This record gives sequence, structure tokens and C-alpha cells, in this order.
Amino acid sequence: MATTIIDGKALSKTIKEEIREEVERIKKNGGKIPHLGAVLIGDNPASESYVRSKVRSCEKCGFKSTLIRKPAQITEPQLLKIIADLNQDDDLDGFIVQLPLPEHIDEDKITLAIDPKKDVDGFHPVNFGRMALGLPSYLPATPNGILEMLKRYNIETTGKHCVVVGRSNIVGKPMSILLSGKSHPGNCTVTLTHSRTKDLKADTLRADIIVAAIGIPNFITADMVKDDVVIIDVGINRVEDVTAKRGYRLIGDVDYEGIFAKASYITPVPGGVGPMTVASLLMNTLKASKNEVFD
Ligand code: GUN
Repeated sequence: MATTIIDGKALSKTIKEEIREEVERIKKNGGKIPHLGAVLIGDNPASESYVRSKVRSCEKCGFKSTLIRKPAQITEPQLLKIIADLNQDDDLDGFIVQLPLPEHIDEDKITLAIDPKKDVDGFHPVNFGRMALGLPSYLPATPNGILEMLKRYNIETTGKHCVVVGRSNIVGKPMSILLSGKSHPGNCTVTLTHSRTKDLKADTLRADIIVAAIGIPNFITADMVKDDVVIIDVGINRVEDVTAKRGYRLIGDVDYEGIFAKASYITPVPGGVGPMTVASLLMNTLKASKNEVFD
């Protein structure tokens, strides 16, 4: 079977265009213009680039956006005060605090301080719990982007064996819950694997769908997968490359070239899952502005 490349860049553009049209309709009818806030602490280059892309996408879709930038030396109480103010801001529909945060700030404490109604990242325990129970919630951006890819490419998931590699709170864990849920896409039999899994290859060889989110370049290789596997590569690893303009290039957790011919569907890096996460965030913010999740 020929391999289909899942074009996340094009799909995210389509979704953003759909959102832009909806925002135009809302504006015409005098409705609430979606407004996203983003808090960026310090000067981590990857975080800067992600937040820039989120803000730019807001503008393209006709959203309002507010960027709050503070130096890495900010104290935890100062950041908590910013969050308390954003929670109270009636015009702001949702906001995110870009992670990772500097070491002296407790990320869990920050996540817990965000009003679940404005938690468009879907990181707060209230949203995570609602997601796990199948109740309306803000879904975390990466797993939601992956579901959207599977749906729009008509990839069958019911009854399939999905192996998730990596157990992070923002990707692996929620992904395993969502794909095993009674939903579409969903109804998978899921194996959640991680760095302590004894024989990972035995698991991946049984997988119809692999979601790789372990953060190790080229970790999943051709000998670890069966024919016609669906490959979703969440990895965004910077590797040094003196021939590249920026001095590095991005590669995924999957050996793309090695696996390509064996896969039925595969996401590239860059241009696969990455752009979908921004589209997910915009979808959540639009939902927030319409009070669709909590009312
Ligand atoms: N850091 C990496 N991914 C994310 C994300 O989806 N949201 C936030 N806030 N920080 C991140």
C-alpha cells in the first residue's frame, strides 16, 4: 500500500480558515470576539517561537490576543498575581502560561491557579478529570490535534491496537485516555509505554497505530514496526546541523526515512503534529468565547 503523508501544516491552515470564517460571522452578528492571553516567562528560544506562532495565528483568525512577557527572575507570587488578574479579566476568554517555567517556579502551583473555565491548554485537573470521564472539557492541544488528524484523514481507530510511547501529562497520558474512550476517533485498545517498559519492541511490533512522544530523536526504527502501521510523530528535537541556516534542524522521535515505506500513514517533522497544536488552541479559545464547555 502506498504511504500517505499526513500534512499537518495544510490541515491546520484549513482549520484556521474555518475558524476565521466563523469569527467573521460572529463579528457581523455583534457577538463576542474570541480573546486569548499568553504568558511567556524568560527567553527560552523554543517557547518564544511557539508563543509567537500562537499569537500570529490569533491575528490571522481575527481573534484578539494579549501577550504578557516577563523576565525569568519573576517571583512565584508575582506570576500568581498575573494569573489572578487574568482570571478576573472579563474580556479574556482563555489564556495559557507557556511551559517550561524557570526552576524556582512550581509549574503545578501555576497550573492549579488558572481558572478551569479559562484553561484553554486543558492542563488543570478539572479539565483533565472531565476529559477522562468523557465530559465536555478543553482538550490538551497535542492530543486534540492528533484526534483531528485521524478524523479528517478518515483513519479507522475502532478496535485498533494503539501504542503510545511516552507518559507525559500533556501528551502521552491524555492521548492514551482519549484513544481508549468510547468516542470517534477512539475505541482503541491502548498500550501506554515509557522509559521503564521492558520490551518496547514487542509492544510496538503489535501496534496498528503508534503515537511517539518520548522526546528522543529517531527512537522508533523500521525494525520496531509492522507493515501498514499508522505513525504519529510528536517529537520536535533540535539537532545540530552546520549546513542549516539556524545551525540546527528539527527531527522527530521516529526514523522517518527508514519507516516511510512500511507505514500506511505518517506525520512528518516539521509540518505534522506541531502546526495542529496551534489549531487546537484556537479551537479551544473559540469554544471558550462561546461558553461551550462550562456554562
Ligand atoms: N510547552 C510545550 N507545549 C505546551 C503547550 O501546549 N502549552 C503550554 N502552555 N506550554 C507548552
